Amino acid sequence: MPVKTYSAIAEIYTHMMRSIDYKEWADYIHQISKEIKKKKISVLELAGGTGAISKILQKKMNIVSTDLSLNMLKQNGDKSFPKVCCDMTCLPFKNKYDFIFSTFDSVNYLNTKEKFIRYLENASRCIDDGGLLAFDVSLENNSKKFEKYLNRRGKVNGITFRQRSLYNPATRIHYNHFELTLANGQKVEEIHKQKIYRFEEYFDFIDKSDFYVHKCYKAFTFKNADAETERAQFILKKKNVC
Ligand SMILES: C[S@@+](CC[C@H](N)C(=O)[O-])C[C@H]1O[C@@H](n2cnc3c(N)ncnc32)[C@H](O)[C@@H]1O
Repeated sequence: MPVKTYSAIAEIYTHMMRSIDYKEWADYIHQISKEIKKKKISVLELAGGTGAISKILQKKMNIVSTDLSLNMLKQNGDKSFPKVCCDMTCLPFKNKYDFIFSTFDSVNYLNTKEKFIRYLENASRCIDDGGLLAFDVSLENNSKKFEKYLNRRGKVNGITFRQRSLYNPATRIHYNHFELTLANGQKVEEIHKQKIYRFEEYFDFIDKSDFYVHKCYKAFTFKNADAETERAQFILKKKNVC
C-alpha cells in the first residue's frame, strides 16, 4: 500500500541516517549563522525532520523547527524548543527570523520551479531584512555517486525495509523507493522524488526572488561551489537592504 512520504520511514529514519555526523553538520550551520551579529538569534528550521540538528543548535539559538511530516516531528522527543508541522512553501508564521535554514537536500523535494519560487517567497516574508537564508542542494554528481550505495535492506524496531535508489538523468528526478514491512506485518511503500536541478538553475530562481546569492560553498567547507560540486551550500541575503 503506498503511503505519504516520510510517514512510515519516520520510525526508521534515525537508524538509516546513523552514519551522518549531525554534530559536524550543526557546527557548520552554526558557523554560517555567526555572520549575524546578535547575541542570541531567532532561527527557523525548515524541513527539520526528526530534529537532529535543532536538538544541538537549540542550546545556542532560539529555534523553531518545522517539517511537513508530523511523523518525523513526533520522533523528536526534545521538549525544549517548539516544533510546527508545516509546508515550507506555505509558512504559517507572522514573526520574522534572523536565520532560516534547512539541511540534507530537503529543498530538492520542491520538484517544480513554481514550488521553489514559492519557498523563496515564503522565506522572504518570514526573514528579517538583515537575515540569512541557508540551504544545501544535492547536485547531479551526488546522485550519480550515491545511486548505488542507497540500495540497501535492513531491520530495525521490528520493521523490515528495503531501499532502492534510481537517478533518471533525462528527467533529473532522483527516486528513492522504500518497501517496509511494519511490526504488525502490514506492507507499505513510499516513493520519494527529488528534483536534481542544474547548478545554474538555482541562480535563475534566486534572481527572480527578493534574495541574492551572498555565498555558495561546497557543502561543509567555505570554498566556492561550481557545477561539478556534489552538494552545494547556498547562503542568501535580501536585496535592497540598506
Ligand atoms: C532528507 S529529510 C531531511 C530531514 C532533516 N533536515 C535532516 O537533516 O535529517 C527531508 C525532509 O524534508 C521534509 N519535507 C519535504 N518536503 C517538504 C515541504 N514542502 N515542506 C516542509 N518539509 C518538507 C520531509 O518531511 C523530510 O523530513
